Amino acid sequence: MTQSDCEQKRKAVEFALTATYNLANEVQHYIDEHSLKEDNPPDFLAIAQQLVPGEQQQMEHSLERSSLGQIAEIITTCVQCPLGKLRQHAVPGEGAADASLMVVGEGPGRDEDATGRPFVGRAGKYFDTWLSAIGISREYNVFITNIVKCRPPQNRNPYPEEAHACLPYLKRQIALVKPDAILCLGKVAANYLLETKAALHAMRTTIHRVSNIPVLVTYHPAAVLRNSDLRAPVWEDLKRLAAILNLPLDQGRS
Ligand code: URA
Repeated sequence: MTQSDCEQKRKAVEFALTATYNLANEVQHYIDEHSLKEDNPPDFLAIAQQLVPGEQQQMEHSLERSSLGQIAEIITTCVQCPLGKLRQHAVPGEGAADASLMVVGEGPGRDEDATGRPFVGRAGKYFDTWLSAIGISREYNVFITNIVKCRPPQNRNPYPEEAHACLPYLKRQIALVKPDAILCLGKVAANYLLETKAALHAMRTTIHRVSNIPVLVTYHPAAVLRNSDLRAPVWEDLKRLAAILNLPLDQGRS
């Protein structure tokens, strides 16, 4: 073994000993804090998961202390899933920090990817007319975001692993904004947020709950632009939403 091989090996052994020492200390600390003297042996796998949290748990843990601005910053550098490497801009979401309504779409499209802002394309402009029909304005009382914060290629639906990697951001945004209601746009967004595979028509007529906040589901504005028959059911959904939020309605519409 050459001198430099010996040096390298010593460094590796030193590193391994340090890591083992630190791990042993953490285990000792855990044993001191918890009574492990029960008759049944403890769940060592669960203890190991607590001591060595996975990437997702670490992320959730660090989000627990983050503000809306900090979450947005974290999202702009996030590469927890492959979409993070394909984006032009991440789209964390935007709106009033104390919004009474939170809107959740599926994921950014081309215009959103180009600007970093949610619902700014054709569907977004159309969606603005829904908001104004119930007296909501982007500036004052709505926070708009998506299930995934980076654009899926060719606007395909987000894959489950992409949605699950991104959901902790949305959950923290909901916990911080604490809206009085959440409006979910489209089946894909609703399926991921509500953890169901139900069809859209089946989800529409129920008031769901996430963290005890009422959640309504309606059609995605892009779907309504393609099929005007959906306008009437959307208006029914918006009226239901306005009632939950105690908003006076634009009586001119029907
Ligand atoms: N469609 C979505 O679901 N979200 C956007 O931000 C834009 C279009």
